[in-house]
Amino acid sequence: MRLDRFLCCARIVKTRGQAQDMAESGHVRIDGRAVNKAATPVRIGCVIAFATPGGYVRALRIAALPVRRGPSEEARACYDELIEMRAHLPQALTPPALAHSSIAVRCSGSVSMTYVVTDACIKCKYMDCVEVCPVDCFYEGENMLVINPSECIDCGVCEPECPAEAILPDTESGLEQWLEVNTAYSAEWPNVTRNAGQTPADADAFKGLEGKFDKFFSAEPGKGD
Ligand code: SF4
Ligand code: F3S
Repeated sequence: MRLDRFLCCARIVKTRGQAQDMAESGHVRIDGRAVNKAATPVRIGCVIAFATPGGYVRALRIAALPVRRGPSEEARACYDELIEMRAHLPQALTPPALAHSSIAVRCSGSVSMTYVVTDACIKCKYMDCVEVCPVDCFYEGENMLVINPSECIDCGVCEPECPAEAILPDTESGLEQWLEVNTAYSAEWPNVTRNAGQTPADADAFKGLEGKFDKFFSAEPGKGD
């Protein structure tokens, strides 16, 4: 199977165009070897390593070759995430340097940081966040979203996208409650990867209100994709 088709069907990126750009960027390694052709063949067992926008490296082992770009669950069954190979890269080893280093097959360590959605999202649900998340780790409740901390790769791309400033890194103090909420409900609510018009018409009226969790939180699931 072609590398770009795998990247798209496995939902590593959002579109076939992005998959082609990524495969041709020279910043992807297959079994430790830098590649730059979209048509590079991949097979079950290959390890694909690449840097992410936040300066992390992800390494995936292909477990199955997808026949289509299906829902997230189907896509995730196509690879095993090699968590032990995800590590924070020094600035000098962001994507261009990665292609010329062997760090993608050497790095070790684990990452426990994540971003979390706070109650500022409740009844706002602007949905800008889901459109940019490279790993589709948002889950939808009736009136807010949460992030799955074990799937978030801490890239930080979603934080500035939220008009309600509801997304924060868990490295900030006082966010323990939201880490618990995100962890608990991402296991119960459905995955959501696109904005299908879920934003309530009166979202702006709830933007910036204090104490929304006590007043309005709903444990009911949203519709998801
Ligand atoms: Fe990146 Fe935000 Fe998605 Fe986490 S939830 S992977 S920080 S875009
Ligand atoms: Fe909520 Fe902000 Fe996303 S309001 S749905 S976290 S863009």
